[in-house]
Amino acid sequence: MAEPIRSVLFVCLGNICRSPSAEAVFRHKVKLAGVAIDVDSAGTQGYHTGSLPDERSMEAGLSRGYNFEGISCRKVEKSDFSRFDLIVAMDEVNLRNLQSESPDEYHHKIQLFMSYSELEEEIVPDPYYGGKKGFEYVLDLIEDASDGLIRHIQTN
Ligand code: 4NP
Repeated sequence: MAEPIRSVLFVCLGNICRSPSAEAVFRHKVKLAGVAIDVDSAGTQGYHTGSLPDERSMEAGLSRGYNFEGISCRKVEKSDFSRFDLIVAMDEVNLRNLQSESPDEYHHKIQLFMSYSELEEEIVPDPYYGGKKGFEYVLDLIEDASDGLIRHIQTN
């Protein structure tokens, strides 16, 4: 039987748009579901270390009732691979970067976030260089995949 999932790390490139949004949405939803999960996010790059999430992500998230308090940008660390039960990548580039940084024994922990969704999309696309609609779409995908991941956690 698979190990229970008690901690989840969401990962994107910059850790200022997609993964902090996933952290905020997932925190909200696990609380509502009454599931105890340690939730964090990080980026494969450290360009924005110490920054708050992108204002456009926060504006979109806050208007849907999500809370970004205490979320600030950090880079993925080696210890994350042993510390977290599940490491969730937003796209294939993040997935490959994580796989190349991870010791082999932890590769099974690294999964694409959209694999927990039944929507057609296979990745959460980077909204950074686009407009407001992209940030709303990112949240639509994150909400659906979060519901799917919570169902997965509850049934495994
Ligand atoms: P994220 O988006 O990976 O969803 O946080 C990006 C944020 C910053 C950059 C690229 C993507 N950047 O090139 O600075």
